[in-house]
Amino acid sequence: MAAVFVTGGAGFIGSALVRQLLAESPYDIVNIDKLTYAGNPESLDGCVADPRYHFSRTDICDRAALDALFAQHRPCGVIHLAAESHVDRSIHSAGEFIQTNIVGTYTLLEAARAYWERLAEPARDAFRFHHVSTDEVFGSLGREGRFAETTAYDPRSPYSASKASSDHLVRAWHHTYGLPIVVSNCSNNYGPRQFPEKLIPLMILNAVAGKPLPIYGTGENVRDWLYVDDHARALHLVFERGAVGSTYCIGGNAEHTNLAVVDTLCGILDELHPRAGGGSYREQKVFVADRPGHDLRYAIDAGKITQKLGWSPRESFMSGLRRTVAWYLANHDWVAHVRNGEYRRWLETHYGSHP
Ligand code: NAD
Ligand code: DAU
Repeated sequence: MAAVFVTGGAGFIGSALVRQLLAESPYDIVNIDKLTYAGNPESLDGCVADPRYHFSRTDICDRAALDALFAQHRPCGVIHLAAESHVDRSIHSAGEFIQTNIVGTYTLLEAARAYWERLAEPARDAFRFHHVSTDEVFGSLGREGRFAETTAYDPRSPYSASKASSDHLVRAWHHTYGLPIVVSNCSNNYGPRQFPEKLIPLMILNAVAGKPLPIYGTGENVRDWLYVDDHARALHLVFERGAVGSTYCIGGNAEHTNLAVVDTLCGILDELHPRAGGGSYREQKVFVADRPGHDLRYAIDAGKITQKLGWSPRESFMSGLRRTVAWYLANHDWVAHVRNGEYRRWLETHYGSHP
């Protein structure tokens, strides 16, 4: 069967997508991942024995290595997730974001184009380059309104600016060279196997470790949360059935302030893993310095993907959060990562009591 390249398949969303494609599609999956601090092969434990799963430890900036992979596997498409993904890290040090998210996407586009231009029909027509992006490219909303496919770009962090650049490159490769692309822009994901620098896993792990729960600014910032397996299902659909040259916005229709998310998590933890000394985990909340340039609100209008492709989220925010908390409580080994010392010092300097 035809192979599909998944870049960033050892990351949070990529590993969920690889598991889903192996379970629900006939493709061979070639996971192309550099294994940065965020890439964890343990997230793919269940896939390694599958003869349809292949792994290559490759940097998407390495053109020669990409050319060799295209020649070896002759894929029918690419689903591109590899990226530097954490906003705070991009504020601390933007270089890797420029390199991987912009130069890496350019390098992958050029390798894909060179391969695709030599394909004969019908393989040439059927080829897809699916670029996985974020709602952060649209900037920040006020109290009203939602992002949709027609929203103008207005990225405001080094991370979102690098993702916006990559979105523009992908669309330019379609308009200029005819490369058959699709783009998806998704809201905040959560679920098992997310690196514990992001809000939800950080709060779960800090809570049970008896550490402070650092809330940036007032905690009134709003995100639109989507369970990771719902995103993976949407990516599978967009890759196979998305119209060439089109964009699809994906979101959970689950807007919550950061404060509400942390309070809800504490309530679930109080029930599933009562605090050793009694009382509620809510007592560990601390308000710390705000994130520079902190976007107030993100929300997605997912009407297009619902109407055109029949997608909608299956997991509710409450059921997804409970599953997520239960997973982190049961998987301490997975969590045993080394965090980058320099980055941690920056967090402490900027946000005060950040662990
Ligand atoms: P992640 O940080 O968990 O994983 C990123 C993966 O990319 C890691 O496995 C890492 O090793 C790999 N990688 C990084 N640089 C690489 C390079 N130069 N070459 C090859 N591999 C490299 O990220 P995630 O949260 O799973 O996000 C995946 C994608 O989805 C990203 O493109 C991100 O912008 C996008 N996205 C994320 C969210 C979210 O809420 N997490 C929402 C919308 C879109
Ligand atoms: O919207 C999609 C984006 O969601 C993705 O493109 C990014 O890759 C992903 O990291 C995520 O970005 P956010 O910045 O929204 O996620 P993060 O988990 O870092 O923060 C969520 C909110 O919580 C944000 O308003 C900042 C706040 N926060 C975060 C941390 C880590 C805190 O208040 N305290 C914290 O310790």
